[in-house]
Amino acid sequence: MIKPTVFVTRVIPAKGLEMVREVCEVILWEDELPPPYDVLRSEAARTDGLLCLLSDRIDAALIQASPNLRVVSQMAVGFDNIDVTAATAAGIPVGHTPGVLTDTTADFAFALLMAAARRTGEGERLVHAGQWRTWGPTLLMGQDVHGATLGIVGMGRIGQAVARRARGFDMRVIYYDEFDVQLPAGISAERSSLEELYAESDFISLHTPLTPNTHHLINATALKQMKPSCVLVNTARGPVVDPKALYAALANGEIAYAALDVTEPEPIPPDDPLLTLDNCLIVPHIASSSIATRTRMAVMSAENLIAGLKGERLPYCANPQVYGT
Ligand code: GLV
Repeated sequence: MIKPTVFVTRVIPAKGLEMVREVCEVILWEDELPPPYDVLRSEAARTDGLLCLLSDRIDAALIQASPNLRVVSQMAVGFDNIDVTAATAAGIPVGHTPGVLTDTTADFAFALLMAAARRTGEGERLVHAGQWRTWGPTLLMGQDVHGATLGIVGMGRIGQAVARRARGFDMRVIYYDEFDVQLPAGISAERSSLEELYAESDFISLHTPLTPNTHHLINATALKQMKPSCVLVNTARGPVVDPKALYAALANGEIAYAALDVTEPEPIPPDDPLLTLDNCLIVPHIASSSIATRTRMAVMSAENLIAGLKGERLPYCANPQVYGT
């Protein structure tokens, strides 16, 4: 039997890649950097399936120029890089990897929150620079996490998992979500308006998908409503925060700290002004990067890809409307 041909846009954890190789002819993009758009487009045009990442632009033009494409499977939970409307119109199911990375990402949001609160990045830089001279009574004084108010923007799976962790730190949790959310038992969090959340939170953690409504949600106006002691954590998507406004707010002391797993653009250019600030901690989009979770994400994306090639319903589908149900 002729195997379907698929384009896998990066070397993914081996278990997922092996599953794909068993049933498909694999064209593998082995470079660490994403394939250029024209390569992506020409590979998509001659393959039956795509296994892609959030740094690959899967737009309407690419979808429309790919008559054989039967499935797009993304190894990520977010899929703002994919024109899902165009895929649905073309009858192409889009797979993603929800659920599996919830706790791993929530752990990491908390790691960033605590690192920013207690200035661990600055402390490490100081020690490595040979500047640890003595026990200093005022050295790198930070902020207490316990007992503080945490504002969560976007109370989906990951937001809720962060709220659960906050309970262990005796935090008061308030949240904003544009939709009505039924919170499971065991999560105590009060719903609030965005304005109240900005004004009352000591820590703000972003967990909203990137949509037209959330693009630059955290802009100059929002930042001005936050406390001067506020710590902002972003493990969602870079463009949820306006980076110029964030720079101004951090440089002028309108907020105290930002801890970012995601930036706009990504990767952040080495000469970006945010990198000149001591009160901005930036890491390279690694919130879901535990060995177990990235392996499971690769397996889920292989499962989605293979199901789509067989004409079966994707187990983790971002556009179930493609099935007309
Ligand atoms: C990571 O950011 C993801 O969406 O899975």
